[in-house]
Amino acid sequence: MAKVNCKLVSWDEVVGWCRELALKVKASGWRPDLVVAIARGGYVPARLLCDFLDIHDLVSVQVLHWGRAAEITAKAHIKHPYTLELSGKRVLLVDDICDTGDSIIVAKEFIMNRWKPAEIRVATMQWISPVAKIKPDYYVDEVKEWIWYQYPWTRLEDTVNFIEKIITETKEKEGKCEWCKDDIINAFKEYYGIDVGEHYYVLAIEKLIEEGKLERVNEDRYRVR
Ligand code: ADE
Repeated sequence: MAKVNCKLVSWDEVVGWCRELALKVKASGWRPDLVVAIARGGYVPARLLCDFLDIHDLVSVQVLHWGRAAEITAKAHIKHPYTLELSGKRVLLVDDICDTGDSIIVAKEFIMNRWKPAEIRVATMQWISPVAKIKPDYYVDEVKEWIWYQYPWTRLEDTVNFIEKIITETKEKEGKCEWCKDDIINAFKEYYGIDVGEHYYVLAIEKLIEEGKLERVNEDRYRVR
């Protein structure tokens, strides 16, 4: 199985990046009236930016990339397309990362057309420049080689998905159907090159059991279903 280039991000790093992002916004001489977080990845950075920039107006739009029952929709879309009166306002649109840029493009277009603010600028902590269709107005790191940022707010979700990928691919390729906890943890560390810590592995295994993807055989053995 191909190893995935991952970076384990700490809460402290997030706070540091958002402090830097706020300094960049301030240094540009532009002051937003309102912050819009792209749900869900933009929530924490948006809230921190509100703190560092002393902005009290914070709202959110959620961008979905999947339709019902995992149908792929042709285009990312806004989940709850509500209306706000923002004429004359300056909006800072915030996400954690600008990867392909699709979420940001859809959110920006929606806000421009529906909420009609005077101006929208975009801020993200990371910008993956080789793949992104847009460049944020403010960013901290330009990332030149694609990498998965394992942010603390998706730690369990990512751990569940990563473990599911390991056990299903290993079953397909090697026919391996039974795992003990340490096997799972070692494979995780090997494939993803990060260690999310004992609590997350235990919670992820419990979630996979709940979802019927793993079955507990005994105290420390699990069967892939
Ligand atoms: N969401 C979209 N792209 C991502 C990436 N490269 N790392 C973390 N979260 C993401």
